Amino acid sequence: MDGNGRWARQRGLPRIEGHRRGAMVAEDVVSWAADVGVQQISLYAFSTENWDRPHDEVSSLMNLLASMLTMQLPRMCKQGVRLRVLGEISALPSMARNAIMHAVQKTKTCTRIELILCLNYGGQQEIIAGIRRLVAAMKAGELSDEALAGLTAAQFRHFLWRDELLPVDLLIRTGGEFRISNFHLWDAAYAELYFSPTFWPDYCREDFLQALQAYAQRERRFGQTSEQLQQRGKI
Ligand code: FPP
Repeated sequence: MDGNGRWARQRGLPRIEGHRRGAMVAEDVVSWAADVGVQQISLYAFSTENWDRPHDEVSSLMNLLASMLTMQLPRMCKQGVRLRVLGEISALPSMARNAIMHAVQKTKTCTRIELILCLNYGGQQEIIAGIRRLVAAMKAGELSDEALAGLTAAQFRHFLWRDELLPVDLLIRTGGEFRISNFHLWDAAYAELYFSPTFWPDYCREDFLQALQAYAQRERRFGQTSEQLQQRGKI
């Protein structure tokens, strides 16, 4: 959700105003996604690196998160949005953590779409956590040397934080940046990437539908050839 700061600066507003407007867009995107049948959408709301921003911006973002979630909870329940979180939320201030846990609990029976809020999340940190889990499993005798030698990527994925997550199909970055910035690194291996020049607070339904249309034109070969896919009737 990039471009909040620049959107605000262009208007002579404080950066948090860009985030505030961005949070409203986030709400809209979740309903556009639900309308077209997306099962899961994840939003990168706060990265492990975002702690290095000015203290005021970090605390305003945490307050915004808590107030938006509290305010939007009835709408989420009504629209069938199940909230999940990805990242180490134990490090978040208690007000934000409580609002998140409350919303996760209240929406756990919602089935229309899942919103994965990535908070204090980093793809590299997730992979390190996965290695720690794997080593713990080996120490506990749950994973043998032979199993480790033959470990596949699909098996390793279970050691990550992805058990509740579908593989990422489409990764959209706004604000004209061409980086992944530590987002969903494991699944980025085969996600389709889409870069939009639009600042996140200006992101509209048209932009979202354009990204989906571009995705629909992509040929996802997963390392195979077009001919192989045609033979198997996949395209
Ligand atoms: C990146 O833009 C945006 C963020 C680091 C924060 C995004 C968070 C929100 C929109 C709030 C989300 C809240 C809910 C409830 C979903 P930037 O500040 O890096 O923009 P810039 O590149 O223009 O400076």
